[in-house]
Parts: sequence; C-alpha cells; structure tokens
Amino acid sequence: MQMRLDKFLADAGIGTRSEVKSIIKRKSVTINGICAAKPETKITPDADEIAVNGSIVGMRGSVTYMLHKPAGYVCAVKDECFPTVMELVPQHRDLFPVGRLDKDTEGLLLITNDGMMAHRMLSPRNHVDKTYLAVLEHPAEKEYADLFSAGVDIGDETPTLPGRFVICDDNSRELAYLPEEYCACAGSGRVVHLTIQEGRYHQVKRMFQAVGNEVIYLKRLSFGALVLPISLKKGEAVLCNPQ
Ligand code: URA
Repeated sequence: MQMRLDKFLADAGIGTRSEVKSIIKRKSVTINGICAAKPETKITPDADEIAVNGSIVGMRGSVTYMLHKPAGYVCAVKDECFPTVMELVPQHRDLFPVGRLDKDTEGLLLITNDGMMAHRMLSPRNHVDKTYLAVLEHPAEKEYADLFSAGVDIGDETPTLPGRFVICDDNSRELAYLPEEYCACAGSGRVVHLTIQEGRYHQVKRMFQAVGNEVIYLKRLSFGALVLPISLKKGEAVLCNPQ
C-alpha cells in the first residue's frame, strides 16, 4: 500500500507533519538512497527504504547492540583507512552506529538497525543525557561547573546546551572505569565527568578547550538510561533494548 512520505515520517514519530515537511526541505530524507524532494511523494513502506540523516526509519525486527568501543575504531559502516566498529558486532544487514565517538574515544556505543530509536536518542530536542569520564591535562577549576551549566561558546553558531560537570573524588563510582595507566591521576582534580545532551563534533574536547584545558582520555559511560556495564570488556557487545 502506498502512502505520502510526510505522513509516513509523522506516523513513525519523526516529528509533526509540518516538522517533517521542513526536514524533507532540508534534504535530510532519502528514499532508497535518493534525496526526497517533496513531502507528497508516494512511498511503499514495505518496499522502500526511508532514511533521515542516514538513519533508516520504520524497520521491522529491530536489533540493537551495546558495544564497549575501544580506541582505534571509527564509527562508520565502512572506512578506507581504519577498522570500523561494525567489525565488533555480529554481521547483520542494515546495522549502523547511533551517533559517533571519536576514533580515540572509548565507551558505550549503540549499533542498531532501528532508525526511529536512533533519531529519538540523538535529537537534542529530546535531551537524552550522555555522560563522559575524562582525564584532563591540567587540574579542573571549580568554576567549570558554572561555566558548563551556563552553556559554553565552542565556536559554533550557538553555545552548547547546559552540561553537568563534576570533579571525581576518591569515592566517585566513575573511577571504576578509569584505565590503570590513569589511576595515579585520581584525586589530582584531573579526573572529571561531564553530562551533556547534544552530540556536536568533538563536543566534550571542545568544551574543555573553551575553558583552557585539554582532554587526554575520554570514555562514554552512559547514554540515556543505558549504563556501560563494568563487566563488558573493551571490544565486546551485548544485545540491549533502549526505550
Ligand atoms: N565528545 C568528544 O569530544 N568526543 C567524543 O568522542 C564524544 C564526545
């Protein structure tokens, strides 16, 4: 059965009818890999592959893995130069990473074929928390908490949304995730965690640069309600069910 593209996207929860019209106008929607030009275009949901910003919408039989991403892997389906995170999950048609971690960043990464879930988790409008553990080059200043909660200018058109910043102390449970080579930094003010609700390019690194510091190690500990299990080793993946 055929239906209009904008109705399909609205029914799939991507946005209201007028929101999906503007998403289509921004050329963010593809039908079988070809950019969709008009909201009224007729599609066949069972046969056509509809994607928003590259994420497939409306797949049946969705599957999601939580991967403990090691450093050295890129978050892409294919790459000419580096190993990709797709090599670390069972082969399955249509899987893709939900957002990106930098090549040198470790931690929780979702890999899925569920475009709607990916969109829900990534949209800044949904305010999904992402918590990162970082080791800094210099001890953190207490003022970072106020600076980050006000939003920081990282050189984009708009400042970041507010972030929640904490300097780890000896009792912080986040220290359980700290690699051995950085354990000596615990208690020096250089081990911190930051929770943000966006996923801009190099966002955490740029936020610390904006306050005069530098990230030397970065790991994502949680994404929405999902927390990286301490028992999940680097490079291992488990099936999960993000709500
Ligand atoms: N922020 C960064 O700077 N890098 C990441 O990989 C994730 C968030």
